[in-house]
Amino acid sequence: MEVIKAPRGTRDVLGDESWKWTHVLDVCRRTADDFGYSEVLLPIFEHTELFSRGIGDTTDVVEKEMYTFTDRGNRSITLRPELTASMVRSYLEHDMRRLPQPVKLWSAGPMFRYERPQKGRYRQFWQIDFEILGVPSPMADLETIDTSMEIYRRLGLSNLQVLINSVGCPKCRPVYREALKSFIASSPGGVRGLCETCRDRFDRNPLRILDCKIPECKDLTRSAPAMIDSLCDECREHFDGVGRGLDRIGADVRLDNRLVRGLDYYTKTAYEILAGELGSQNAVCGGGRYDNLAEAIGGPHVPGVGFASGIERIVITLEGQGVYPGKAPETDVCIVTASDDAIMEACALAHELRMSGLAVGSDYTGRGMKAQMKQAASAGARFVCILGGDEIASGVVGVKNMKNGEQVSVPRSGTAAKIALWREEMVE
Ligand code: HAM
Repeated sequence: MEVIKAPRGTRDVLGDESWKWTHVLDVCRRTADDFGYSEVLLPIFEHTELFSRGIGDTTDVVEKEMYTFTDRGNRSITLRPELTASMVRSYLEHDMRRLPQPVKLWSAGPMFRYERPQKGRYRQFWQIDFEILGVPSPMADLETIDTSMEIYRRLGLSNLQVLINSVGCPKCRPVYREALKSFIASSPGGVRGLCETCRDRFDRNPLRILDCKIPECKDLTRSAPAMIDSLCDECREHFDGVGRGLDRIGADVRLDNRLVRGLDYYTKTAYEILAGELGSQNAVCGGGRYDNLAEAIGGPHVPGVGFASGIERIVITLEGQGVYPGKAPETDVCIVTASDDAIMEACALAHELRMSGLAVGSDYTGRGMKAQMKQAASAGARFVCILGGDEIASGVVGVKNMKNGEQVSVPRSGTAAKIALWREEMVE
């Protein structure tokens, strides 16, 4: 029988990596506190309708990528592919409109999309997600970009490129959509010059053609009209406001006319943050404004703006840039037993040491002392406690300082206090 493996597109985050995740989440939490976002913990599954109505029926996410099933109560349920729709649902469900606006929320957790797995792209992946709800001001857009950049700055990341565009609103976008379609239709290759996917997009979702990575489609749309030139007065003013704000805080942001994003709820601002270390899946962050999402899911008008960033992609970027902020867990003490009958005493000593706040590694294999010492060294232990029949009989513990190799005999009763003191001196 074959050993069962994890499903394709999922991965186990093991101990040599999970501490980096913890650090990323710690930095997010502190940044969220400093910017005034409060944390919400949301369900991992929702009614399918939330996403089909919220994200849009013709998006790849809804059409091809959702993990949808019928539960035992015959309801269509979907594992969340993203958090924004759930955030807005939660805002409406808990009537957060009665709170002082804006309401600033953040959350983190696993998302699920049936995508073709590759480096930086998984079927289960984690996002951090930050949203500002209840205000239409371009300064809220600015603040979400500033939040994401502050998280990356605190993590020690550099060389990130912020791309921004405006995707307009239901008033000006149809005008642009028609301009783009007639540009494509009248170009030398015409609609038939597009890839198969984009030919399908032409009527259903033509803006996505701008986002296609296939060279023929890129060539065909190279001199296409830009959305930014078709914006209505309100969208134009909003975009200029975000631009002025970004200048004011000295943010290095580039206009990208091709940036359209893959989720249909966006209005006005859309942005992405790219990191060279990620290869073809180069977006570490994606976000924008979604003023009509609340209405799309049955609520009143609630303007909103936010972003999400993939933790796997943050960690790949950290590793690619050789930045290791945070600290791997450390071992203060390992206990080495010289004989089997010392194992029980080793266990009691480990208990006391841990109660004194020390991080203690234990080895109950009954292996030879040499192998146990080797293990202690590879765990990076600061001290090793040696316990054998002789030590137990004379009420002492052998304590070896792994940094300078010195070994002393310490009375058993005072061991924990002594090592705690030495550890403090060593770390200072
Ligand atoms: P998104 O661009 O679909 O936007 O995803 C945001 C980020 O999640 C991406 O930039 C990437 O870092 C990460 N990500 C997405 N898909 C995967 C995957 N398959 N594997 C690994 N990482 C992935 C959203 O999800 C929007 N809800 C963002 C938002 C929040 N807009 C407004 N508020």
